[in-house]
Amino acid sequence: MDIAVAKRRSSFSGKFFAAAVLITICFVMFKQSLNSSSHNMFSYHEAGVTHVLVTGGAGYIGSHAALRLLKDSYRVTILDNLSRGNIGAVRVLQKLFPEPGRLQFIYADLGDAKAVNKIFSENAFDAVMHFAAVAYVGESTLEPLRYYHNITSNTLLVLEAMAAHNVKTLIYSSTCATYGEPEKMPITEETTQVPINPYGKAKKMAEDIILDFSKNSDMGVMILRYFNVIGSDPEGKLGEAPRPELREQGRISGACFDAARGIIPGLKVRGTDYETADGTCVRDYIDVTDLVDAHVKALAHAQPGKVGIYNVGTGKGSSVKEFVEACKKATGVDIKVEYLSRRPGDYAKVYSDPSKVRKELNWTAHYTLQESLQIAWRWQKSHLNGYGLSNAMG
Ligand SMILES: NC(=O)c1ccc[n+]([C@@H]2O[C@H](COP(=O)([O-])OP(=O)(O)OC[C@H]3O[C@@H](n4cnc5c(N)ncnc54)[C@H](O)[C@@H]3O)[C@@H](O)[C@H]2O)c1
Repeated sequence: MDIAVAKRRSSFSGKFFAAAVLITICFVMFKQSLNSSSHNMFSYHEAGVTHVLVTGGAGYIGSHAALRLLKDSYRVTILDNLSRGNIGAVRVLQKLFPEPGRLQFIYADLGDAKAVNKIFSENAFDAVMHFAAVAYVGESTLEPLRYYHNITSNTLLVLEAMAAHNVKTLIYSSTCATYGEPEKMPITEETTQVPINPYGKAKKMAEDIILDFSKNSDMGVMILRYFNVIGSDPEGKLGEAPRPELREQGRISGACFDAARGIIPGLKVRGTDYETADGTCVRDYIDVTDLVDAHVKALAHAQPGKVGIYNVGTGKGSSVKEFVEACKKATGVDIKVEYLSRRPGDYAKVYSDPSKVRKELNWTAHYTLQESLQIAWRWQKSHLNGYGLSNAMG
C-alpha cells in the first residue's frame, strides 16, 4: 500500500469516528433536554393544570387514586418508599400515561424530613393526597411506635413541608378506626372518636394535628374517614396485591380470594354470637373506585381556610357470613369456612352514615358488594402473582 492511500484511509476513519462521536453527543444532549423539560414540567405551576402529590401511590388505594387523577388530566407525582406497595402498579400507570409532565415517581421515605423538604422545593405541587401509611390494626398493637412514627409523625412532616412551600390543599386518608367502638350506629361525623388501637389512635392524632394547624392557615383540608375498602379497577389495570408476608394481617377480601385460589385451605370466621342478625360481625364495605371518586370530589370542593370531614362508606352493613356468600358467588368456588370463637378486640357492628358526604360533595357509593368482589376476582384470577415484579428499583 502506498503512503498516499494509507493517509486517505486513516483520514476517512478519523472523520467517521469524529462524526460518530458528534452524533452520540447530540443524541445524549437531545435525551437530556427531553428529560429535563419533562422534569421541569413538574417544577413549575402551569395554568389550568393541577399537580397532585400522591403519597403512598404505589399502594392499593393510592395507585387507584393516581389512575383516576391521571384519567381526569391531573399532573401526578407519586411518592412512595415501596415498603408495602408495588412498583408494578407504578409501572402500569407509567405505561398508560407516558407523555411528559403527566406522571413522575419519586422513591422516598416520608420520615426523612430533609428528603421531603427537597422534594417540595423541587416540585410545584398544588395539592397533596396523603395515603402513605402502615395500615393494619393487628400489626399496630404489636408495633405501636412504628405506627405513631409512620402515621402521626410523618403527617406532621408532610404538613410542615406543605406549609413551608405554600401548597394549598390537603386530602387526608383517615379511617373509621378513629371512632373505636361507638354504641350507636350508624356512625356520623359527630360520633365521638375514641380509638381503641394504636392504628386508630395514630390516625386520630394526625387528624388533631391537621385540625390545630388549620385554625390559623389558609390551607383547604378534607379529611376522609374510610370504612372497609374492597374491589379494584373495573378495567382491570390495577388490583390489590399485598405482600405475601402481610396476608396474615390481612383483610377479609384477600383471605376469601386466597381461599378460592387454594393458597389457604379455607376461611376462619371468628365469632358467631355477636348481636347481629346472623351472629357474625357487620362491616361497611366501600369499593375503591367509589372511594377515589370521593377524593376527586373532595379535591374539587376544598376551600382555602376550611376543613371538611367526611365518612366515606356505603351506609349499609354486611355481615361476615353475607360477605363469604358474596365471595363464593363471585369466585364460583365453594370456599370452606371454619367458625371459631370471637377474636378479642373485634366489635359487633360498624357502618357509616354517609349523608354528609352525599349532601356536601354530591358523592354516593355505586358498587354493590357483589359487583366489587366480582371485579376484584377478575384481577386476582389474571394476576396470580400480583404485579409479578419484585420491588427492586431499576
Ligand atoms: N385499605 C383500607 O381498608 C383502609 C381503610 C381506612 C383507611 N385506609 C388508609 O388508606 C391509606 C392507604 O391504604 P392502603 O390500603 O392503600 O395501604 P397500602 O399498604 O396498600 O399502601 C400504603 C402505601 O404507603 C407506602 N408507605 C408507607 N409508609 C411510607 C413512608 N414512610 N414513606 C413513603 N411511602 C410509604 C407503602 O409503601 C404503600 O405503597 C392509608 O393511610 C390507610 O390508613 C385504608
